[in-house]
Amino acid sequence: MPVIRPRRLRRTAAMRDLLAETHVRTDDLIAPLFVREGIAEPQPIQSLKGVMQHTRDSLRAEVTELAALGVKSVILFGVPAEKDAVGSGAYDPEGIVQLALGDLRSEVGDDMVVMTDLCVDEYTSHGHCGIVDEHGVVDNDKTLDLYVAAALAQARAGSHVVAPSGMMDGQVAAIRSGLDAENFTDVAILAYAAKYASGLYGPFRDAVDVEIADGGDRRGYQQDYRNTREAQREVDLDIAEGADMVMIKPALSYLDIIADTAARVDVPVAAYHVSGEYAMIHAAADNGWIDGDAVALEQLTAIKRAGANIILTYFTRWFAENHR
Ligand code: PBG
Repeated sequence: MPVIRPRRLRRTAAMRDLLAETHVRTDDLIAPLFVREGIAEPQPIQSLKGVMQHTRDSLRAEVTELAALGVKSVILFGVPAEKDAVGSGAYDPEGIVQLALGDLRSEVGDDMVVMTDLCVDEYTSHGHCGIVDEHGVVDNDKTLDLYVAAALAQARAGSHVVAPSGMMDGQVAAIRSGLDAENFTDVAILAYAAKYASGLYGPFRDAVDVEIADGGDRRGYQQDYRNTREAQREVDLDIAEGADMVMIKPALSYLDIIADTAARVDVPVAAYHVSGEYAMIHAAADNGWIDGDAVALEQLTAIKRAGANIILTYFTRWFAENHR
């Protein structure tokens, strides 16, 4: 029996390119962007190298440049000047995200898919993703009314896709009926379906100035990372409630969940390569310990290989500039 030689197929770059099974394309990527109320100049975010808290003007410029680079989608997060107990900035028609949405839609129209994160933690004084009761627990059903109000405000301001990220039960159904009742039947829902209570969101909380009151956390509503079955239940519920697309978040520690979901469902699957995943690459690269570009490409490819159709990543601009 001759020696079987798989290495034959890895010998030249052309052979490797010919046989590569997985490709990341700019078309697959969604750029998360932050817009902050009440600042005159864009502010760099220390823990997210190269990412800014934008002014309305700098956001507009950034999105125009991303469009020119071939990027197809952005997702907006707002940082309000004032926070309150119910996060009213999330549904105020003059709230920062609503104003920024108007700017962007007049700039890019339908040439890009403009998404909005739909949650209230950036807007609440206590940093939770909903209305907190007298025991400090997030009240699920009262919070749904807030999410519907925010969805309508975002739809009126021109969002193509709303992305509920609060992990309240019934949020997708509530938002879908709220949107349909006002004739926003074309606004799609990208559900953060399986969102884990992760240690990897730290830099994001710097980006949106969120600190959870009393040293609290989100383990009462986000998922337990020891579990997998729960993720499939959440995905199924969100699809049954009307989600057009489902998201798994974070990405790299949950490639098994991405793969299970992609194998089971027939809606597009998104994965969020989150702030901590981005920050770790930059931190190690800045120390000279890894080749940051190589690792970024390896990680984005792994997320696609696991089965994600689209990826939310802070590397979107870098990828579009360097890979196309
Ligand atoms: C909640 C939200 C979070 C992220 C996206 N939407 C933070 C959280 O759940 O605490 C994290 C994204 C990232 O880390 O890049 N509105």
